[in-house]
Amino acid sequence: MSTPVDRSALDTLFHQARTHSHWQDKPVTDDILQRLYELTRLGPTSANCSPARFVFVKSDAGKEALKPALSSGNIEKTMAAPVTVIVASDMAFYEKLPGLFPHADARSWFTGSESLARETAFRNSSLQAGYLVVAARSLGLDVGPMSGFDAEKINEVFFHGSDWQVNLLINIGYGDDSKLHGRLPRLDFDDACRFA
Ligand SMILES: Cc1cc2nc3c(=O)[nH]c(=O)nc-3n(C[C@H](O)[C@H](O)[C@H](O)COP(=O)(O)O)c2cc1C
Repeated sequence: MSTPVDRSALDTLFHQARTHSHWQDKPVTDDILQRLYELTRLGPTSANCSPARFVFVKSDAGKEALKPALSSGNIEKTMAAPVTVIVASDMAFYEKLPGLFPHADARSWFTGSESLARETAFRNSSLQAGYLVVAARSLGLDVGPMSGFDAEKINEVFFHGSDWQVNLLINIGYGDDSKLHGRLPRLDFDDACRFA
């Protein structure tokens, strides 16, 4: 059992946390990206399979390589962001299961079913992207997730000949709060939830 976090932590992680498209001129250090991964990797995945892979695109060359794959509305914010992380799924994630889940032959659960492997990779790497969002906020960073891109182009440029496939992109930086619009509504409990 752990202690609930205080109001200030809830504000940082949820109440005041927003999706950002405009960034302060403040760099994101490699050190904080390392800390970000250290937190992200602790989030749970099925059989500890940890299929997400992360490419932190920071260089001008990397950003230029991303650019042709972005939908038009995502170009400016991505070029301006200090870092864009490509969250990928490793479709051969099960090859690492002997180390990650050593008390069972979990690798064999996936080697016989490509559809199960793909579903598991997508489900868990999506979860890991969510953990990264919350972890980033806990470190004082801001994020802007994106699904507006051409996956084939990203896979061709960044993952050609590998088992990694892009799931989503997330801009990371220190957001410019002055450029935020009002928060969009969320569904009420009764609209989104039910008991069974
Ligand atoms: C998986 C995902 C994909 C998204 N794709 C885009 C996108 O391609 N372009 C964009 O401008 N915003 C994108 N967004 C941002 C959402 O519209 C935004 O997070 C949502 O409206 C909530 O905003 P808030 O965090 O400020 O409340 C995406 C968000 C998520 C989580």
